[in-house]
Amino acid sequence: MVNAYSHLWISLCKLCESAAPARAPGDRWGSTVKTLVVMSRKGGAGKTTVAVNLTLAARAMGVKAVLADADPLRSATEVLRERDDAAGLLFETSASKLFTLTEASRRAGADLLIIDTPAAPEADVAEAVKVADFCLAVSRPTYLDLAAAVRSVAVIQRLGRDGMIVLNQCAPARNHVEPPAVVKAMEALRFVSLTVSPIALRSRMIYQTAFAYGRSVQEIDPEGAAATEVQALCEDIWRRLGGEVRRPPLRTANDDLRRPARQPSMGYLKD
Ligand SMILES: Nc1ncnc2c1ncn2[C@@H]1O[C@H](COP(=O)(O)OP(=O)(O)O)[C@@H](O)[C@H]1O
Ligand SMILES: [Mg+2]
Repeated sequence: MVNAYSHLWISLCKLCESAAPARAPGDRWGSTVKTLVVMSRKGGAGKTTVAVNLTLAARAMGVKAVLADADPLRSATEVLRERDDAAGLLFETSASKLFTLTEASRRAGADLLIIDTPAAPEADVAEAVKVADFCLAVSRPTYLDLAAAVRSVAVIQRLGRDGMIVLNQCAPARNHVEPPAVVKAMEALRFVSLTVSPIALRSRMIYQTAFAYGRSVQEIDPEGAAATEVQALCEDIWRRLGGEVRRPPLRTANDDLRRPARQPSMGYLKD
């Protein structure tokens, strides 16, 4: 390992010695790092929020997860830098170094590398997608975000990667009925050739409170609705990456919704 990466190497090794419980002999996940790229071609969609919360949720599950902040705005770094575990948790990087970081993570025995990306330029987003095992396109249920999600899907598919769209900052359901904007977004996304996560993340103040303390929503309120949604999303992604979760899929408030019956429409993205 060359000098420029020695800090990274030492930190990754410390992480892998200490962050997670020992694994059973023959457990293959320790030697094959999985890379999750959190992306959106639109600022403010929630990439950093989702990337930080998923990383901390994965670590709480015993997965050796690290977060690469590849956004020059350094929002994830801003949130996490004061944490005691920041040195083994977070790596500031750039698009051109992602391949090296992925390789270093693999050699250090990390299980999961989550990459928080910038909205632009597209070339940097594409560099991240190239190293991805799975891409998570974050989108608010709004016209402009969905249009950006379509552009994300185009990059993912052009580069032959697997992925999923997750809706974020959705208004919570009322009386178990999904808000019209979310229903409309789900309908529009039926015509996009990428899976849409059944777990929608709701707009909740706790995400902002948690960031103010450098924490995840789970660390602030482990029993809360936001924590349950993040956990369900994290477990779902980990399963899709081939990881093991030793319990059935979690139920979230999403499971209790009565969705109003509507005819599918392609109009949302075209109006
Ligand atoms: N589910 C959510 N509920 C409430 N606020 C959210 C949620 N997701 C993101 N936010 C807030 O939206 C803003 C933008 O989120 P951020 O993760 O920085 O987006 P991006 O990284 O895509 O630019 C932040 O203030 C963040 O706290
Ligand atoms: Mg961000």
